[in-house]
Amino acid sequence: MELFTPGLEAYAGHFTTPEMPILSEITAFTQAHTPRPGMMSGHVQGMLLRMISLMIRPKYVLEIGTFTGYSAICLAAGLQPGGLLITIDRDEQLHAQCKTFFQQAGLADVIRPITGNARDVLSGLDYTFDLVFIDADKENYIAYYEAVLPSVRAGGWLLADNVLFHGEVLQPEDRQSKPARAIQAFNAHVAADDRVEQVLLTIRDGLMLMRKK
Ligand SMILES: C[S@@+](CC[C@H](N)C(=O)[O-])C[C@H]1O[C@@H](n2cnc3c(N)ncnc32)[C@H](O)[C@@H]1O
Repeated sequence: MELFTPGLEAYAGHFTTPEMPILSEITAFTQAHTPRPGMMSGHVQGMLLRMISLMIRPKYVLEIGTFTGYSAICLAAGLQPGGLLITIDRDEQLHAQCKTFFQQAGLADVIRPITGNARDVLSGLDYTFDLVFIDADKENYIAYYEAVLPSVRAGGWLLADNVLFHGEVLQPEDRQSKPARAIQAFNAHVAADDRVEQVLLTIRDGLMLMRKK
């Protein structure tokens, strides 16, 4: 489903600061070597993630869903000295490749990839997070949100990607795919949760920005 005027994303990209060479390299790798390159955040959303990180200046960041490392590099931009970004993915091969990219970006000391099923990894983490980015399997978004929210500091931030799910959320429920229904349920879950305030940003595939009260 075409959500935005054709050319709008390209227009936004044209007037957005160009991506760093390492991010262009990751983009080229992702397009050449992964079956679903569209999962990557990309130029405009990546720059937004970078700006959000620079505004927050987080000490501890958690990302659920590393893929090829694009968003992790963007989210690490504002880390405080001594800060750490933990990024989880179940794909060992992707993580091996990401480590090379993080090294090239000079971020190997501050980005810690943890390989495994996110729900298992989350239960073993003991940090208070300033910023969390949920971007893995859509069916588990509510479980990830519920698992991490207690570990987010009061006044801390969460982001969840793909909350428009290619526009499928606008379709009647019986015409939605399983992940689209899961996203619809996640959006409703967050909207009904008094512990956070939130705004659904209509950037790319939709980005939910939440603040823990
Ligand atoms: C949309 S991609 C992440 C994109 C990346 N955050 C970015 O913006 O460039 C989703 C990733 O989540 C991972 N994933 C899916 N289900 C998972 C699970 N249950 N546990 C850990 N990782 C999972 C996939 O292997 C995939 O790399």
